[in-house]
Amino acid sequence: MNTEILPYNLHNIKKAADILKNGGIVGMPTETVYGLAANALNEAAVCDIFKAKGRPQDNPLIVHISRIEMLNDLVTEIPDVARTLAAEFWPGPLTMIFPRSDRIPDVTSGGLDTVAIRMPASEAARALIDESGCPVAAPSANLSGSPSPTTAQHVFSDMNGRIPLIIDGGACSCGVESTVICFREGHIHILRPGSITAEMLSQYADVEIDKGVCAKPSDTEKVLSPGMKYKHYSPKANVLIVDEHGADFTEYCTSHAVGKTIALGIGVSTQGIFVDYGITPELQAQRLFSLLRESDEMGADTVFVEMPSTDGIGLAVYNRLLRAAGFEVVGNDKADR
Ligand code: TXA
Ligand code: MG
Repeated sequence: MNTEILPYNLHNIKKAADILKNGGIVGMPTETVYGLAANALNEAAVCDIFKAKGRPQDNPLIVHISRIEMLNDLVTEIPDVARTLAAEFWPGPLTMIFPRSDRIPDVTSGGLDTVAIRMPASEAARALIDESGCPVAAPSANLSGSPSPTTAQHVFSDMNGRIPLIIDGGACSCGVESTVICFREGHIHILRPGSITAEMLSQYADVEIDKGVCAKPSDTEKVLSPGMKYKHYSPKANVLIVDEHGADFTEYCTSHAVGKTIALGIGVSTQGIFVDYGITPELQAQRLFSLLRESDEMGADTVFVEMPSTDGIGLAVYNRLLRAAGFEVVGNDKADR
């Protein structure tokens, strides 16, 4: 199968929608990362998403909607706080988990009795959902385990030959996946941090951050979100988080370089092994996955990344980095921590 990349316009959205209506899969831009889209209610199409990504069957997909009325059919209960959050943050990078209705096939929700729903801010994504006339299941459009795609070209490099079409909506503005939350005893529980931050959510209810966000889950522990168990976002190179800043960071990277090394620093000047990955958490979020992919293209053996701040969207950057690094944090005074 040849994989076509076509720019976002109404004509190409109709073409993509026809593929979805016929049970196929397309690459879809969103404001967070690119998704691999199929009709969420079509079991066979959803199975094909799992095959194209090489994704474990027990890891459920997010169902994307374009209008709030679509929610009623897909879930059996909508807490008041969810209605408030939908009014405030949809369309946008917030995914909420609800008890699922029997319209959602088992395969879409990974066999769980809940379903994750989000209304993307991306105009292209909502046009595709509208045009195809169905809720759209879409995981990030990377091969399972590799960094999420933030451009159509990234999708092409993972999915070439596996899907017929990618709609090119340009580079994603957020660069990290949506915030995933569930509701527990009146609390908002953050399962995956993103651009809608704990601070923003705490205006509407008490917020709890799942301990799996910053810690390695043990093999025996039951996780609330299956995605937490799996290796994620990893380029081929060995990624290490360096808990040093300024001159200590550059000194650590220079003296510990192994093989071809790239060091992503915060506001460093880009020269030698050093590459600036952004002075603000927003820029770091936009660039992180792209830089991890570029490191692979450059044949890097080792990628050092300066420890980001965990404030605001920084928590999302840190959460993705911890997984990319297999939770390995290093620094001058500690051999391994
Ligand atoms: O920004 C995003 O959310 C992107 C774009 C394409 O919309 N999508 C995305 O999907 O990141 P994916 O499949 O790569 O990540 C979905 C995460 C997984 O960690 C999954 O385990 C979790 O959401 N999830 C999905 N349904 C769930 C459920 N019912 N309960 C708990 N976690 C769920
Ligand atoms: Mg993903």
